[in-house]
Amino acid sequence: MATTAKVVVVTGASAGIGRATARMFAERGCAVGLLARGSKGLAAAADDVRELGGTPLALPVDVADHAAVAAAATRVEAELGPIDVWVNSAFTAVFSPLREMRPEEFRRVTEVTYLGSVYGTMVALEHMRPRDRGAIVQVGSALGDRSIPLQSAYCGAKHAVNGFVEAARVELMHEHSNVHITIVQAPAVNTPQFSWVRSRLPQTPQPVPPIYQPEVVARTILFAADHPRHKQYWVGASTVGTVLGQRLAPGLLDRYLARTGYRSQQTDVAARGAGDNLWAACDGVDGHDYGAHGEFDARAHRHSVEAWLARGIRSVAAHIR
Ligand SMILES: NC(=O)c1ccc[n+]([C@@H]2O[C@H](COP(=O)([O-])OP(=O)(O)OC[C@H]3O[C@@H](n4cnc5c(N)ncnc54)[C@H](OP(=O)(O)O)[C@@H]3O)[C@@H](O)[C@H]2O)c1
Repeated sequence: MATTAKVVVVTGASAGIGRATARMFAERGCAVGLLARGSKGLAAAADDVRELGGTPLALPVDVADHAAVAAAATRVEAELGPIDVWVNSAFTAVFSPLREMRPEEFRRVTEVTYLGSVYGTMVALEHMRPRDRGAIVQVGSALGDRSIPLQSAYCGAKHAVNGFVEAARVELMHEHSNVHITIVQAPAVNTPQFSWVRSRLPQTPQPVPPIYQPEVVARTILFAADHPRHKQYWVGASTVGTVLGQRLAPGLLDRYLARTGYRSQQTDVAARGAGDNLWAACDGVDGHDYGAHGEFDARAHRHSVEAWLARGIRSVAAHIR
């Protein structure tokens, strides 16, 4: 099933995986609604989309605000046309031991990472249901199946996202709807999150290796938008190993992560104590564009054999179905 998507919305489009995804849709000539908060990042994302052959519409929005997300979708429909694909990528987190977490941090991470995805999905469905067509792609995480230490708020929110997407998917199936929702479970990715997420760790945070470039996940997001009937996509052998390991031997993983999980999430460099993106964007008026990639280009894989194989198998299956 090749995509007919012409109009796409990407939340978290100013940076990281969302930015890489917006760029790839632009290469297909799509019109792309870009939702995030940072003015510098949004402006640069709009430039990217234009240069790559797409039509951008940058909309400054906090995804924790349902009314703002709904208003943004209305503008996309009015200015770009009916939304074919909606991608939820926006998120935030706090890297911290639970004993140092504050209640308001849990609330904020949940409102952005979990409710932001719920609101995006609800708004997308409001537009797609009456037309009985459309695809919603949620960017998930291996940490939505298997929690790790120092990320309790994020892991809780990503588990909640999995639960929500499954319920929404089954309701759409019950209605025999031609609107589909699917989830792409990502591995550790080299994005700006490790430069701007609030952190109380003594060393600067890092994605737990193996690290992939954001384009590896973006390729699967586009494939998922083309083939949204599939329940979920796992990107990277590490995601497959984590999800299956959790199903087979969760207690063993608890002990392994208790031993290694603190060290593996930090570099050898002392924490910088820079500002964070929890309540407001770092790439606002006084900031700079962070782009799609983080600081780990030298250590990041540009391809995943597992994701490539999975896309190939799914393509063949779709053709013989
Ligand atoms: N990187 C990884 O290792 C990894 C692994 C597995 C899954 N994922 C998933 O991939 C997705 C993207 O992660 P990433 O690493 O690319 O993140 P990132 O580099 O930190 O980028 C996050 C994006 O979300 C936006 N955002 C943050 N808070 C927002 C808010 N309140 N309202 C609107 N937009 C907001 C940011 O822009 P503004 O600050 O300008 O608003 C930015 O565009 C997330 O769903 C994450 O769970 C990432």
